[in-house]
Amino acid sequence: MTAILLDGDVLARRRFDELAARVVSLAKRGVVPRLATVLVGDNPASQSYIGRKHENCAELGMASDDIRLRGDISEDALIAQVEALNADPLIHGALVQLPLPAHLDEGRVGEAVSPAKDVDGLHPMNLGRLLAGTPGLLPCTPAGIEDLLRAHDVPLAGRRVAIIGRGMLVGRPLAMLLSLPGTDAEVTLLHRRSPDLAEVTRQADVVVSAAGQPDLVTADMIRPGAAVVGVGITYVDGGMVSDIADEVAQVAGHITPRHGSVGAMTRAHLLSNLVRIAEAG
Ligand code: GUN
Repeated sequence: MTAILLDGDVLARRRFDELAARVVSLAKRGVVPRLATVLVGDNPASQSYIGRKHENCAELGMASDDIRLRGDISEDALIAQVEALNADPLIHGALVQLPLPAHLDEGRVGEAVSPAKDVDGLHPMNLGRLLAGTPGLLPCTPAGIEDLLRAHDVPLAGRRVAIIGRGMLVGRPLAMLLSLPGTDAEVTLLHRRSPDLAEVTRQADVVVSAAGQPDLVTADMIRPGAAVVGVGITYVDGGMVSDIADEVAQVAGHITPRHGSVGAMTRAHLLSNLVRIAEAG
């Protein structure tokens, strides 16, 4: 079997085109969506992720501010910077790129971002609304994964979805999103040390891995025809290695390409949140 590609780069391009049309409508009202990002320190992967967010903003005719702060900044000074962005009426959305240097408390910094400007959808208020079943701004990677699956007609209602990785950026909020009434997936949240990992994934119609362990998911763990989404990426000897082993493409019905794909969908949903905030005025 040759799996159908869940190509997030192609779908994100479509989503960007749809957003560009909404940006044009906003411009007619004199509104230019504006994103502010805060990067602390010089993590090379974070620099590259942030760079792409600003490239996408420019392509879509949106404004953006790329704020870079020293890696040894104090937590109070960082929070003061975030509060200045909250108070700036020209900024519609703000985010602090993760991970932060170890001396900074990611929870406290994340809570400092105004929930109304939380384009990441990761503020406890927005995560809490998702949990409560009254979603506000959605977390971008989970929203991007759901969009990628739906756009390729991968059924979710009444299907078993196994999610590997219980992190706050992907696994836990994705489990909340896909188990909302109306989506009706049966979700199992696993992690790399789950005792029955392979038994559970073998029963699943959809497997999402966001564990960050190279080649964790092998062909024998996948039911023939299942959809497989690789999110986790590990940097090994300067190269990127996916959670999903190459051989999985031989058994899966749908699969993400070995690299990229979900990253573009994350950015599409980040900018969708930004446009939504700007439209709400
Ligand atoms: N680091 C990796 N992914 C993300 C993301 O989606 N948002 C933020 N703020 N940091 C990240």
